[in-house]
Amino acid sequence: MTLTFASRIDGIQIRCLIGSDRPIAAPTLCFSLMAAPKVVSGGTMVRRVAGYAEIALPDLVPGTEHEVVLEHAHKEFGPRNRAWLPLGAYLRVGKECLPLPPRTDLGLREVDGPPAPALPADRVPLVPQPTEWRPSGATVAFATLAHVPGLDGVADLAVRLGLAPLMQAGGAALVVGEDPALGAEGYRLTIAPAGLSVTVGGPAGLHYAGITLLTLRETCGGKLPCGTITDTPRFGYRGQHLDCARHFFGVDFILRLLDLMALLKLNRFHWHFADDEAFRLEVETQPLLWQRTVFRGEGELVPGVFGGGIRAGGSYSKADVARVVARAKTLQIEVLPEIEVPAHSHAMVKAVPGLRDPGDNGEEVSVQGYLDNIVNPAVPGTWDLLVPLAKEVAGLFPLGILHLGADEAPHGAWDGSPAVAALKAREGLSTSDDVQGWMLAKLAAELGSEGVRVAAWEEAAKGCQGGIGNAALLFSWTGQGPGIEAARRGHDVVMCPAQHAYFDLAHSPDPDDWGAAWAGFVPLEKTVAWDPVPKGAENITPRIAGVEACFWGEFTVEDSQAEGMIAPRILGIATKGWEPAGRTDGSALRALAGAYAPLFDSIGWKRYRSA
Ligand code: ACM
Repeated sequence: MTLTFASRIDGIQIRCLIGSDRPIAAPTLCFSLMAAPKVVSGGTMVRRVAGYAEIALPDLVPGTEHEVVLEHAHKEFGPRNRAWLPLGAYLRVGKECLPLPPRTDLGLREVDGPPAPALPADRVPLVPQPTEWRPSGATVAFATLAHVPGLDGVADLAVRLGLAPLMQAGGAALVVGEDPALGAEGYRLTIAPAGLSVTVGGPAGLHYAGITLLTLRETCGGKLPCGTITDTPRFGYRGQHLDCARHFFGVDFILRLLDLMALLKLNRFHWHFADDEAFRLEVETQPLLWQRTVFRGEGELVPGVFGGGIRAGGSYSKADVARVVARAKTLQIEVLPEIEVPAHSHAMVKAVPGLRDPGDNGEEVSVQGYLDNIVNPAVPGTWDLLVPLAKEVAGLFPLGILHLGADEAPHGAWDGSPAVAALKAREGLSTSDDVQGWMLAKLAAELGSEGVRVAAWEEAAKGCQGGIGNAALLFSWTGQGPGIEAARRGHDVVMCPAQHAYFDLAHSPDPDDWGAAWAGFVPLEKTVAWDPVPKGAENITPRIAGVEACFWGEFTVEDSQAEGMIAPRILGIATKGWEPAGRTDGSALRALAGAYAPLFDSIGWKRYRSA
């Protein structure tokens, strides 16, 4: 049997054509969109879970393509580009699933835009730019170093990236000295015809000096510019997040991402492995959690939401975690795990009985369109699961911080729950925010008693009793306003404003582009067109721990599709995390991206090329 499937954007609508060379009686079209769909014509919706839908079609007749016209249920989610077209489409006929031909247009197009401008003369081809660069004029040939204790992590990185070795017998000597005044991550590197020397504030500083040498060797074609680099990061938290719940990224991809981060002196990997679609860590405290959610699709607890199709997924074993943590350590990166509660917990609720109030008659809907994606803090089952789970997960990661989630509780959460009504009366709470804040503070206290600090998205600050509590590290994602507010109230804050730091947002409004659009588009220039400490908020400077870029996986169905979303924009977050304010603007970053293009290409990391 030959089946055909094509879809296209037509204004606010999505038109799908389905064909078959054999008659098919009463098929059901199963697929997902980025947001909840509704049927305009051509079939009848029989099931919907978030952006996943099943549409009963009339019999398919050979020689005639059948058209189904869709819209998004929420008018503000018009389809923006190819990522908004159906993903994972298949037909169910009786008990049989017939895959429709996979789309051949997934991911970014690799079309070259105009050439990048030349790098201004006062810059070294290095991202982030060093705090201070004093050129002395000459250049010196550089290929390898003689062995330097403390640079093995960088040398191994060079090998993994397929670059020439960094250290080998007969290589140039690097004279290493120490000056604690440079700070733990700081270094001063002198490149001169007479030789190389570095003064470091600590092992991390030496590592970053090694990264600088390796990078300059590559971006300068083996001829280092002579002079002195004095370098120290502006922020201690320089992160990249990866959503491995919506799309299961293989461990090899994660390790490659760590390598890329290391090349740019990023030092925090935020591992988002749990969300509405899956809990992917193979925990022992509640094995049902991952065993029942690792795969989604036909016949699974969670259907093929976000491109899951007939079956997609995977889980991370403890050995995987140990591998990621160990590799990260060699690259001066710490791993921040996230368990994501109370909302974004559809998979958790489906997998483990007893996390909802059986008397809850509320009908709150999450932004993504789920009806039951929040655990109930007033039932004992929630605590029986969460406390041991949180402690187990935190214990796997040396950082000593556990991100609890706390974003996007659906409007009216728990309003229909008698158990929460009783909790509110008992604890003096009135709103959903109050309840969430109370719950997070309780979980934070449990973890605090074991020496674990908590982190959470910005919403965790809400609540009449002070939300999660001041000790929590908060992530400001809808913009910088909530982060400024939280910092003023005594929280340490990581700035990850979607408008500048969400790499799942499309690079441009071009309908041939790829990606989300809810907070606008993020061309390369926009990744540096902001300050983590905005003007007028200088008094909160000590509270800004740093910055993070996020990559959400809603429309990613293969690991490699994330690459061109992340690069070259990851240069922007590296810039913001390390450099003094305002050092690199959009046009300088564009020039630096040009200088890095051959490096991205030689390490085999795809980059967005169209702008
Ligand atoms: C988020 O993007 N919901 C943190």
